[in-house]
Amino acid sequence: MRLDGKVCIVTGAGSGIGRASALLFAEEGATVAAADIDGSAEGVTHVVDVADEEQTRALAAAVLDEYGRIDVLFNNAGIAGVGDLEETSLELWERVMRVNVRGVFLMSRAVAPAMIRQRSGSIVNMSSAIAETGLARRVSYAASKGAVLALTKSMQVDLAPLGVRVNALMPGTIMTPFVEGYLRDSYADPEEGRRSIRSRQLTGELGTPEDVAHAALFLASDESRFAFGSGLVIDGGLTAGR
Ligand SMILES: NC(=O)c1ccc[n+]([C@@H]2O[C@H](COP(=O)([O-])OP(=O)(O)OC[C@H]3O[C@@H](n4cnc5c(N)ncnc54)[C@H](O)[C@@H]3O)[C@@H](O)[C@H]2O)c1
Repeated sequence: MRLDGKVCIVTGAGSGIGRASALLFAEEGATVAAADIDGSAEGVTHVVDVADEEQTRALAAAVLDEYGRIDVLFNNAGIAGVGDLEETSLELWERVMRVNVRGVFLMSRAVAPAMIRQRSGSIVNMSSAIAETGLARRVSYAASKGAVLALTKSMQVDLAPLGVRVNALMPGTIMTPFVEGYLRDSYADPEEGRRSIRSRQLTGELGTPEDVAHAALFLASDESRFAFGSGLVIDGGLTAGR
């Protein structure tokens, strides 16, 4: 049991990577607060908009009230934004930055005081391989994930002396409901979209939510005790093969 006795918050836990992580963390002995803006999603225990300051504070308070501590915060909630510079409206830019960057900032700020009091904790932030590798028509999304990586390192410098680790995940393309939907919308034949994803990687395998959940488990657990401010790439060779 790699998270035995640990209290974990997973945001965006209603779907995809967040859902797979919440299930895996629970299997590994954790008590999981599964937070999502979508209260109808299966398994969600706390309905929270991570970009709403009051709701993030209320979530941290509720978890502390119920379990007395917070060991892990997995800032996974995020939304996509498709568009090049001209296609990207200010509204889309602000929506993407609001959830993906402000959400990570607010959730971390709500939870960090408890971890600092405990002198222990692990924050795992969801960045993306796109923070380091350009991809067409992802202006807002790439900016948001680059910001998360920079935020991770900066937070880590401040929080390391206080006993809290902060690391980021940098997945490539992962077959979640969001990506499946994107393939359906963008390609007449979704198989063509899958072929194009495979061709960018060093493996013919497609990434699954569980692949990323296992990486999140490592960063969440004490097994990663020597990892500080890192960005763990898990992308089927997308970045290495460039
Ligand atoms: N799927 C990929 O290829 C991929 C690659 C790299 C990074 N990521 C990142 O991984 C994370 C999860 O992605 P996924 O593919 O599992 O997506 P998903 O759409 O399947 O799940 C995201 C979940 O986040 C929730 N959410 C959205 N806005 C929220 C908010 N304001 N507050 C709380 N919850 C909110 C949604 O309701 C949903 O349940 C995202 O941050 C995404 O950017 C995904």
